[in-house]
Amino acid sequence: LGLMLTASGCGGEKKGAQGTGEKKPIVVKFSHVVAETTPKGQAALKFKELLEAKSNGQFKVEVYPSSQLYGDKEELEALRANNVQLIAPSVTKLVGFNPAFQLVDMPFLFESDEAAYKFYDGEYGQKLLHSLESQGMLGLAWWPNGSKHFTNSKRPLKRPEDFKGLKFRTQSGGVLDEQFKALGAGSQTLAFGEVYVALQNGTVDGQENTFNNIDTQKYAEVQKYLTVSGHGRLDYVVLTNTTFWNSLTEDQKKLFMECMKEATDYERQLADELNQKSFENLKNSGKLEIYTLTDADRQAFIEAMKPVYDKYTDKIGREYIEAARNTK
Ligand code: LMR
Repeated sequence: LGLMLTASGCGGEKKGAQGTGEKKPIVVKFSHVVAETTPKGQAALKFKELLEAKSNGQFKVEVYPSSQLYGDKEELEALRANNVQLIAPSVTKLVGFNPAFQLVDMPFLFESDEAAYKFYDGEYGQKLLHSLESQGMLGLAWWPNGSKHFTNSKRPLKRPEDFKGLKFRTQSGGVLDEQFKALGAGSQTLAFGEVYVALQNGTVDGQENTFNNIDTQKYAEVQKYLTVSGHGRLDYVVLTNTTFWNSLTEDQKKLFMECMKEATDYERQLADELNQKSFENLKNSGKLEIYTLTDADRQAFIEAMKPVYDKYTDKIGREYIEAARNTK
């Protein structure tokens, strides 16, 4: 690991950090899969700006967006190998490390954005952040994106039965597969960077994502229908490598966390704003036929998706599900 630290530019940091000898910044590589114009993309840049300025150049943060450096799976491997020091995956992608993260995928679970934020900042959310330490990863913050909605190329999706026979892309994990199964649809896990092409060539008929991802990935070019369903959430945790983290001094850790806190506030402010803006863009594109679920439709989906709860409540942890439900 020492070698890897040197390779990523961290070798001379102790000296430089103390203001003696030549200053060699600690290089922090931040890799992610989305566009720069997303809440995550913007917050990563904000964190870079803050940490570089407040540390007087002690840190240098390199942000690599759009799966430029690593895709979904690779970024997790790269973080664990300390080849990158920060990632912010959708928590769905952490299912292999801790299945409880799939809580975020449970359909119609949180009452509102505020309830989700409160849960993440509370006891259970914090427990999740610290649950990956034995696997070399430390959670630093929750960066929520927002509600997911369905798109597809075949037909308007208004009621559960409209999903029959269609195939959807999923991020990862059993909950999302089960969700589509409950609707009579098939599913296939694909890395985020592969979704556009898969929609274009019909490998899958549809997908689910936030307005902002749908917009910034230009899915309207390869999809015909958008259902405003808000049936689930897409949220991130910012993860660092524990070896990298432990190589920092207490002062450096404190500064790092201060900047992370500020970037997190910024991300949360931006998330709703960018999703609303993207929804406007999608409406104005004229490329999508848009349907918004009525209360009765919504109730039909809640009913249809009950099997997901039957199968996954205990796998995730009943106490997590109940705590999420009870957060107002
Ligand atoms: C997805 O794979 O759909 C999302 O997790 C991408 C992202 O990071 O927002």
